[in-house]
Amino acid sequence: MEKLVYLDNGAMDQFFRNYGVNPGRSGYDLCMVAGSLLEETRKLLTELFNGTDPNRLIFASNASDALNLAIFGLLKEGDHAVTSNLEHNSVLRPLFHLSRYNGVEVDYVAFDSQGFVDPKEFAQRFKKNTRLAVINHGSNVIGTVQPVREIGELCREHGVTLVVDAAQSAGRIPIDMAKMNIDVVAFTGHKSLMGPMGIGGLYVGDGVKIRHTRAGGTGVRSAVRTHLDEYPYRLEYGTPNLPGIAGLNAGVKWLQKEGMSKVHQREIKLLRVLRNGLGKIGGVSLYCQDDLVNHVGILAFNVDGLEAQDTGTMLDVDYNIASRTGLHCAPRLHEQLGTDKIHGTVRLGLGPFNTVGDVESVICAVEDIACVRKKKKKC
Ligand SMILES: Cc1ncc(COP(=O)(O)O)c(C=O)c1O
Repeated sequence: MEKLVYLDNGAMDQFFRNYGVNPGRSGYDLCMVAGSLLEETRKLLTELFNGTDPNRLIFASNASDALNLAIFGLLKEGDHAVTSNLEHNSVLRPLFHLSRYNGVEVDYVAFDSQGFVDPKEFAQRFKKNTRLAVINHGSNVIGTVQPVREIGELCREHGVTLVVDAAQSAGRIPIDMAKMNIDVVAFTGHKSLMGPMGIGGLYVGDGVKIRHTRAGGTGVRSAVRTHLDEYPYRLEYGTPNLPGIAGLNAGVKWLQKEGMSKVHQREIKLLRVLRNGLGKIGGVSLYCQDDLVNHVGILAFNVDGLEAQDTGTMLDVDYNIASRTGLHCAPRLHEQLGTDKIHGTVRLGLGPFNTVGDVESVICAVEDIACVRKKKKKC
């Protein structure tokens, strides 16, 4: 069950009352304070990813926007890219557009029965013109966390740039750009970073040059006719979403206070209860949940004989349980699992404020649904 948790309300209210102005556009006091908030948040996130330079932390509208900046800005005609079947459409669609309209070739690596890709399979697809590898860190459907460090090592050996989609993992799983050999990481505010919607971004590693694919206002060096080359302006355009940044700032500070690992462990403990409970119900299929090591708190299931959407509607209408159903913007993952034919899965996403009680009520509800389904089948 996914609850939208607005622990940033206070931060955003404070922002609007105290310094709700456009940062970096003038020198009056409020503008300077707004600028400091922006810079402090760049620093917080740079530290989170163990980056070296807060100016290489770019704010964008969300992870999709950030991934578009990275993918379109790193590939050109004649290039080859490797990605996986786990990816979200925010990776698949930019790559597909480039392959259809811009002469870029793309290869896809399958995941194994437990939902993990084999790094060697990435390397096996590398060719002379391979410029980019893009990998999902934490799956938004089956929750598996990919061996990014090993994929990164192989990318380094072959001179391939590695972009990591950390939309689900940033804020739960440690991400160390240096140790994990990551060139670019993309994040979003409204998931594990506990921020609001409409804010996301990239951290761009040293030496990585992403071409501008847009141009516009930066608030500095306005006489220059072209878009600025230096980071962060290189990839930022127009007024930033400062209310979103204020919320994200509060979210990251909350995580620091609670301890990211503690929050993650709590979710995995609940995931285990959920997995064990659902796993015991006859007529319920779980996907890639045998071992919960290297997972985020996400689980996908179906009740045999029911389409995911029907189960989701019953959970909502009869039990007041909010889940997500369908393909979850990850069509290749469902094609590989075969769940595309039944219109996807039901996905349960655990958050830090879920309780054992929440998990027990989902298990009871699914038990009821599966039982009714079985009785109907007998008739
Ligand atoms: C793995 C993954 N990547 C990318 C995205 C896109 O994030 P956003 O909605 O911030 O663009 C999501 C969102 O669900 C996701 O789960």
